[in-house]
Amino acid sequence: MTDTVVSQPVTAKLTHAAIFLVVTLGPDPGGDEAVRELCGDMASLLRGIGFRHPDRRLSCVMGFGSAAWDRLFGTPRPASLHPFRELQGVHHAPSTPGDLLFHIRATHMDLCFELASEVMSRIGSHVTTVDEVHGFKYFDERDLLGFVDGTENPVGQDAATATMIGEEDPAFTGGSYVIVQKYLHDLKAWNAIPVERQEKIIGRRKLSDVELREADKPSYAHNVLTNIEENGEQLQIVRDNMPFGEVGKGEFGTYFIGYARSPARIERMLVNMFIGNPPGNHDRILDVSKAVTGTLFFVPSATFLASVVP
Ligand code: HEM
Repeated sequence: MTDTVVSQPVTAKLTHAAIFLVVTLGPDPGGDEAVRELCGDMASLLRGIGFRHPDRRLSCVMGFGSAAWDRLFGTPRPASLHPFRELQGVHHAPSTPGDLLFHIRATHMDLCFELASEVMSRIGSHVTTVDEVHGFKYFDERDLLGFVDGTENPVGQDAATATMIGEEDPAFTGGSYVIVQKYLHDLKAWNAIPVERQEKIIGRRKLSDVELREADKPSYAHNVLTNIEENGEQLQIVRDNMPFGEVGKGEFGTYFIGYARSPARIERMLVNMFIGNPPGNHDRILDVSKAVTGTLFFVPSATFLASVVP
C-alpha cells in the first residue's frame, strides 16, 4: 500500500454494538448520484456524529456488491469481485441480494443508530433495505451458542496483512473484501448437546475458551475446518461476528462478517464448512445453525471513497 492510501476501518477494534445494513439500489438512476454523494461525504458524516463521543469509537465500513460496482463506478473494477457463490453441500449457503453494505460499529448503539439514520435520510428513498441487523456483544465476547467468539482474530500488522489488498491489485491497494452471512440458531437443539460434544464441535473449551489440544480436536471441529494454509502459511481473515435476536419471535442468531484481502480464502473456509473437508466431513455448527443470507462486497479504500464525485 502506498503512503497516500488510507483504508476504511476494516480492522477497527471490536465493539459492543453494531448495525449491519444491506440495501439494493432501485431502478431510479438519480439514486446512484445520491449514493456517490454519500461516498464522498462519509468521512465528514463520521466526524460530525462521532466527534461528540470520540471515546465511543464510531466507525463505518462501506462495501459494494459486484453489479453495484459496475453501475456506480464502472472501470477499473476490483480483480476478485464477483457475486457470492451459493454452496450446496451437506448444508446450504444461499446467495442473497445486496448492492451496498454498511458495517457500523461503536461501543454504544446510540452512535450506530444515529449514523444509520443519517445514511438512510440521504439514500433511503432510492434504495430497498434487504437486511438490517442490530448486533450486541453477549457477556464476555460470547456468541449465543455460549462460546467466546473472536479469540483467534489476527491483530495489528497481522490484521492489516490479512485484510488489505497490496500489489496483487495495484489499482485497489488498501481495499478489502467482505463476506456477510446471517445465521439463525436452533438453540433448543444446541443446548440439548452435551457441553463436551459442543466443545469438540467448536474446538475450544466453553467456559475457559482454551483451545483443545490438536490430538483432542475432531477433523470436523470448526477451528480445524476454518484453519487453512497455503505454502505452509496460515491464510487469515478478520471477523467481527455479532449475536442478535428477538425473544418474542424465538429468533437467535449470529451475524457472520469476515474481511480478507481476497475472497478466495473465506470461500475456501465456507467450502470446508458446508461441503466438508474431505467432502461430507462438514461443520457441525451448521446442523443447528442455518445460513439465511450470503453476500460478497468489495471495500474500497477511504481515499477512494473520498474521491468519488456524484
Ligand atoms: C473461530 C463461532 C461462522 C471462520 C470461531 C470460534 C467460534 C466461532 C466460537 C472460536 C473462537 C475464535 O477464534 O474466534 C462461529 C459461529 C459461526 C461462525 C457461531 C456461525 C454460526 C464462521 C464462518 C467462517 C468462520 C462462516 C468463515 C467462513 C472462523 C475462523 C476462526 C473461527 C477463521 C479461527 C480458527 C482458528 O484459527 O482457530 N468461530 N463461527 N466462522 N471461525 Fe467461526
